[in-house]
Amino acid sequence: MMASITSELLFFLPFILLALLTFYTTTVAKCHGAHRWRPTKKKRPNLPPGAPGWPLVGETFGYLRPHPATSVGRFMEQHVARYGKIYRSSLFGERTVVSADAGLNRYILQNEGRLFECSYPRSIGGILGKWSMLVLVGDAHREMRAISLNFLSSVRLRAVLLPEVERHTLLVLRSWPPADGAFSAQHEAKKFTFNLMAKNIMSMDPGEEETERLRLEYITFMKGVVSAPLNFPGTAYWKALKSRASILGVIERKMEDRLEKMSKENSSVEEDDLLGWALKQSNLSKEQILDLLLSLLFAGHETSSMALALAIFFLEGCPKAVQELREEHLEIARRQRLRGASKLSWEDYKEMVFTQCVINETLRLGNVVRFLHRKVIRDVHYNGYDIPRGWKILPVLAAVHLDSSLYEDPNQFNPWRWKVSGSAGVLLQSNAPSSFMPYGGGPRLCAGSELAKLEMAIFLHHLVLNFRWELAEPDRAFVYPFVDFPKGLPIRVQRIAGEHSVLTESTAT
Ligand code: HEM
Ligand SMILES: *[C@@H]1O[C@H](CO)[C@@H](O)[C@H](O)[C@H]1NC(C)=O
Ligand SMILES: *[C@@H]1O[C@H](CO)[C@@H](O)[C@H](O)[C@H]1NC(C)=O
Ligand SMILES: *[C@@H]1O[C@H](CO)[C@@H](O)[C@H](O)[C@H]1NC(C)=O
Repeated sequence: MMASITSELLFFLPFILLALLTFYTTTVAKCHGAHRWRPTKKKRPNLPPGAPGWPLVGETFGYLRPHPATSVGRFMEQHVARYGKIYRSSLFGERTVVSADAGLNRYILQNEGRLFECSYPRSIGGILGKWSMLVLVGDAHREMRAISLNFLSSVRLRAVLLPEVERHTLLVLRSWPPADGAFSAQHEAKKFTFNLMAKNIMSMDPGEEETERLRLEYITFMKGVVSAPLNFPGTAYWKALKSRASILGVIERKMEDRLEKMSKENSSVEEDDLLGWALKQSNLSKEQILDLLLSLLFAGHETSSMALALAIFFLEGCPKAVQELREEHLEIARRQRLRGASKLSWEDYKEMVFTQCVINETLRLGNVVRFLHRKVIRDVHYNGYDIPRGWKILPVLAAVHLDSSLYEDPNQFNPWRWKVSGSAGVLLQSNAPSSFMPYGGGPRLCAGSELAKLEMAIFLHHLVLNFRWELAEPDRAFVYPFVDFPKGLPIRVQRIAGEHSVLTESTAT
């Protein structure tokens, strides 16, 4: 216990020092200035500029107006042009500061728990559960996070998750193309990530009736997460709450089976999944475990499938990148064959260098998570602005990723900008990488970022080696405020015959 507190302190110490320093330079120095110049007048808070909009709804509808995912949208453009990168508004019924500023975004995430606190709308808590990691703060959050990180540790990533990711990739790709030509790439990506999570969270096998039922239930559930929280019969939110109940029912049954099994058999025969971990290694209550599993299923399924669909979308419009990807993966497959190996190894994964550029560029331009919800818990002074306690604050990650002062041609898909020695000037600022935060940051940094990268890289490996693809009809990514392809990204594929194909019957396991 003590050891963990100490190591935690050591971990946070640099952030604390940084915070103190920033606090001194931005606050103390400014206050002195203010006192010198206006000694008699009571200091009025210097709020960021902005307009409150309509009563009650404020500017919420403008803020959430759908727009192509590769742009920040008219609302953001107009507000930044009028007020600057930090402005105030009234959103989701609360007084809010919106930040499109890379420095402030980083400052917010690194001061989690000290100056700011995670604060999602109550509707999210209603659906994901009060013990969901997105909702928890403080010690309760830390405990849940530790369990998730254990489950997603680098040891498990190499030994367990890498082979699992490859197995689930092949399961999906071997069923391509389905009978009638065009099919939804987003749907297939969801199948892939859902099956992977269901297997690793509670050992549910893909294709089984129970798994399929849960997956379909999950789709209803997701519609409710992004809907308005109107809880009366017929609304998306109401249906989602019902879905939540039946999903929890499935998880609960799994849990009881497991408990029964654990009491009967030796512990060595237990399945190595998150459910097993949570039951053995923690003293979480049943209710807590249910919410933990449900929210991990949510966090690990929607985001990475969207990222994969976006990669398929962007690459389709950039044949040069597909070509370079294919060369990289052909080389990896060639060396793998020389070794006589039939599965990808961690070393193979580490060779996927250009693939990582493609992944970063996909997340920069696609912005799976556009903004985060935070609350100000202490009065904050930043760059001359006063941000009062009690306000909400939204770090808009997308606005920074599409900022033309950080990235040249920010609306262009250009994976080469991530090559360290690549063509000069595509990252305009040497600090651009540090403002790149697709997984958030600070003490709530995405627990699954390494898994997400692994999923995308392995999937792309087999995709580019075995298929060419094209969009069956134009589809654009929209934001509601979650990114989505309205038509599910219909594509048509063509198999590439070749000796490295692991999809053909002869080499199929
Ligand atoms: C490309 C895919 C992904 C993206 C862009 C992404 C993005 C994010 C972001 C931005 C956050 C921070 C939320 C906040 O601070 O309010 C987050 C949190 C989280 N993500 Fe991911 N994520 C991805 C994939 C995954 C996967 C595959 C998992 C795995 C199981 C996962 C598990 C989590 C968990 C557990 C949290 C909560 C962490 C905490 O509160 O301490 N994510 N993710
Ligand atoms: C548990 O394992 C021990 C040896 O490891 C064995 O002797 C015993 O029969 C096992 N019990 C059950 C119920 O499998
Ligand atoms: C279990 O809970 C008790 C009190 O609720 C606490 O003192 C103990 O440290 C917890 N153990 C673990 C392993 O979290
Ligand atoms: C991709 O972005 C991450 C930050 O999330 C960075 O650490 C990494 O170096 C980037 N990868 C490449 C290939 O530039």
